[in-house]
Amino acid sequence: MKTLHTMALVSIASLGLIGGAHAQTAAKGTKAENVAKVTDADIRQLIESSFTSKGPATVEGVINQDATQKACSQYPDRTKVPTPLAKKVEAAELKQVKYPADSNFIGDWKEGEKIAQNGRGMQFSDQVGGVNGANCYACHQLTKAEISFGNIGPSLYHYGKLRGNSQDVVKYTWGKIWDSNAYSACSNMPRFGHKGILTEQQIRDVMALLLDPASPVNQ
Ligand code: HEC
Repeated sequence: MKTLHTMALVSIASLGLIGGAHAQTAAKGTKAENVAKVTDADIRQLIESSFTSKGPATVEGVINQDATQKACSQYPDRTKVPTPLAKKVEAAELKQVKYPADSNFIGDWKEGEKIAQNGRGMQFSDQVGGVNGANCYACHQLTKAEISFGNIGPSLYHYGKLRGNSQDVVKYTWGKIWDSNAYSACSNMPRFGHKGILTEQQIRDVMALLLDPASPVNQ
């Protein structure tokens, strides 16, 4: 079970929770044999003793990985995921995408903008079962008006204007937001629908932000 081990080392090192030799070697990306003595059980114990579940942020949420997370954790460098594994992950995730039963994919872009701006949700200081934001701006440019955005993800400015709103584009965009891994295995983008971060209605609103010709994304 190298999986959890690698994931935990990377996340602990990046959180700066421990300053020990193992974390330092992991942070420097030194050869695997230097960290091989740390077992999965050590890491689990370390996480369990250092974290306390509070509100929606639980120790189980850190430790319990699904099959895709386990597979992806073997490749902290996402560009090194082997093609056969990527295809397998994408096919499995695509099967889990739930499209709206009423085929109503597009909501209100004004609500979508609020959701894209909102970075709250699922943190220890948030309410359990509260309404989450999506924090799209943390990783994407979306509108011209908002100049504070991250660039881990590609710019989505003019998304609808450039791609149109054919059935294929609409379905792809919904699937991408529902489960980013369905189209790009081991993506750094959250699986908003699959993980229950956003509701179906919230996804409709974010869809409108990207695809409605009246949305500031497309001006
Ligand atoms: C933690 C960072 C992160 C967040 C938050 C995030 N994304 Fe992404 N997104 C990415 C990355 C990285 C990619 C490119 C890799 C990939 O395709 O998964 C991407 C790709 C996309 C794409 C595909 C773009 C294309 O060219 O086809 C869409 C659409 C998208 N994101 C929409 C959104 C929306 C809408 C939100 C908010 C609901 C969001 N993203 C939140 C990181 C993020």
